[in-house]
Amino acid sequence: MSTPLAELHMHIEGSLEPELIFELAQRNKVDLPYRDLDDLRSRYEFTDLQSFLDLYFANMTVLRTAQDFADLARAYLARAAAGGVRHAEIFFNPQAHTARGVPLPAVLEGLADAVGSSEAEFGVSSDLIAAVLRDRPVPEAEAMLDEVLRLDVPVLGLGLDSAEVGYPPSLFVDVFDRARSNGLRTVAHAGEEGPPDYIRQALDLLRVERIDHGVRCLEDEALVARLVEEQVPLTVCPLSNVRLRVVDTLAEHPLRRMLEAGLLVTVNSDDPAYFGGYVDDNFARLQAELGLTDAERETLARNSIRASFASAERKAELL
Ligand code: ADE
Ligand code: ZN
Repeated sequence: MSTPLAELHMHIEGSLEPELIFELAQRNKVDLPYRDLDDLRSRYEFTDLQSFLDLYFANMTVLRTAQDFADLARAYLARAAAGGVRHAEIFFNPQAHTARGVPLPAVLEGLADAVGSSEAEFGVSSDLIAAVLRDRPVPEAEAMLDEVLRLDVPVLGLGLDSAEVGYPPSLFVDVFDRARSNGLRTVAHAGEEGPPDYIRQALDLLRVERIDHGVRCLEDEALVARLVEEQVPLTVCPLSNVRLRVVDTLAEHPLRRMLEAGLLVTVNSDDPAYFGGYVDDNFARLQAELGLTDAERETLARNSIRASFASAERKAELL
């Protein structure tokens, strides 16, 4: 039997499917700037990370109540379970909601409700990672961390995402120091559109335990050697990389080269509603277009469990 999967890099707001956008808009009486589903779907054509982020943030306006967040998370967990995921570490962007007037306790009440029952309901253990929007002011990230720490909520870790170039990890040293000293696990997006040096900064300055994306490490031989030596997990998102033009086609994706170099790579969906599929869709397309073998799939699955923040008992159950 094949090893089950852990998904370690997905943004819950990026699992907001077009149908749910329309349903929540109706429920919350939000006027959408789209004629219909087809009109909305016609906009899922991206030229880079920013062109995607513009739509990602625009569509979030339909998320208003704890119930909306619980429904969103349950929809993801059900779909992930159907695709073979048994453990999920879920990013959410507190600032994207508080900045438009949705209080963090409402966001967390909904997400925590779904996450708290995910193992019983879907057979998927899950955790939440609050991700800092790196292109917003640093004091806002500080305030977000303060609120997460103040609220008695099950947040496992702190991440760093949104527009990368021009917003180096070095800006967030204090935020990450404080997160770590308060017991949060830490990860950061680096080396998606940004240079290999951002991966180094994330490791040396933020002292993160995993790098999200990290594909641009391949431009720096010494960095690859270090990532191999230290077995730093890289949460790679192949369909995302194609849709955001980080790579031209899936057939040219460096995933196999990364595996062959000895990097601890995992496969993830990033924003499955926007990039053409969930983690099982990523694997199916890698098999079809990159010729991913069963043995490589098995290695990637084992890597995902190994690189997860699941308890030792849960890891033993899944491996
Ligand atoms: N937020 C959601 N998806 C993201 C990605 N691929 N890179 C950076 N920030 C994101
Ligand atoms: Zn991401």
